Amino acid sequence: VVPFEGTHQAGIETPVPLITTFVAFDLRPSVDREAVARLLRLWTDDARRLTRGEPALADTEPELASGPAALTVTVGIGPGVLDIPGLRGRAGLRPDWLRPLPPFAVDALETRWSDGDLLLQVGGDDAMVVAHALRVLTKDADAFATVRWRQRGFQGGGGARTPAGTPRNLMGQVDGTVNPAPGTVDFAAVVWTHDGPDWVRGGTGLVVRRIRMILDTWDALDRASKEQVIGRRLATGAPLTGTDEHDPPDLTATDARGLPVIPPFAHIRRAAPARPEQRFLRRPHHYDDGHLADGTPDLGLLFVACAADLNRQFVPVQRRLAEQDLLNTWTTPVGSAVFAMLPGVPTPDRWLGQELLA
Ligand code: HEM
Repeated sequence: VVPFEGTHQAGIETPVPLITTFVAFDLRPSVDREAVARLLRLWTDDARRLTRGEPALADTEPELASGPAALTVTVGIGPGVLDIPGLRGRAGLRPDWLRPLPPFAVDALETRWSDGDLLLQVGGDDAMVVAHALRVLTKDADAFATVRWRQRGFQGGGGARTPAGTPRNLMGQVDGTVNPAPGTVDFAAVVWTHDGPDWVRGGTGLVVRRIRMILDTWDALDRASKEQVIGRRLATGAPLTGTDEHDPPDLTATDARGLPVIPPFAHIRRAAPARPEQRFLRRPHHYDDGHLADGTPDLGLLFVACAADLNRQFVPVQRRLAEQDLLNTWTTPVGSAVFAMLPGVPTPDRWLGQELLA
């Protein structure tokens, strides 16, 4: 069991499970503040039961609530919710960062993977348990909202990881090395929102970007070139200037010819924080959804980042990567969405979003 109740919602600081599905909803036109409040009370009750491995109220397939399989249900509010009747025009409700990201030169965004009024992130270590939870939660939303997009992500289990436990992505790279450590003061400072309107404090800003990988041309690179693109070794995840995954990269090191060992436009050089506040949590998930119409594989990274303030911490890094990053030749962002993940429910009498909607 991953506990549902707490100051923060589960699914952000807790380990990334094997399977995570993200579902974004559009509110139906008639929906106002009171209606969203009804939906969030329902979702809170569903999540509380399902994450304990118990059926939801009036569950049509109670036997499938056989988990809990580390089930987590995490709920977020999209920018549009603040414009519905009952919230529209109320001063001071919108944190500055709760709006779609600015456009970036690398973007090839598709509506079918972008934006949304509400987000459900449902994760667990059993595909059946996750599917059942999604079905219950989606049915309960039906009167209030329609599904805008749905993306299923996964993460590798034991084999495809480094000795330190860091997983790999579909390019074979160790992905997730540099990240705030859960349970630390640093994590809390980087991830949990501590200023702005009351209803976001204790929550976090979350970005989901669907980034397609162009593996057919990536496969044509030799191993050394692939390592130059990131600035780290494929086998160990160690920086090109070190031997261990967690050795700090030496961005000043040069080779015998005087050239930087980690190339100027290597991904880790461009992604490294230019200022101390430009840090965030990455929770990578991977997708592998068959083939596109042109016959190329439809796979890549469901890039998920969480930060207390997305404008200050995330946007400058994304801007820098969009300007120059060797990786851009083989990756294309095709979806993008921003949500305020709500603070947690610390006690059984509370419900998600109460601070905003009650
Ligand atoms: C398909 C796209 C991407 C791939 C395959 C990818 C892969 C990687 C890999 C292999 C690393 C090195 C290991 C690690 O620290 O995890 C890394 C580091 C990092 N990536 Fe990405 N990444 C992608 C997109 C992005 C995006 C869109 C951002 C942010 C806008 C980003 C931000 C970072 C950061 C902040 C680091 C750590 C940098 C440091 O060493 O300080 N990445 N990425």
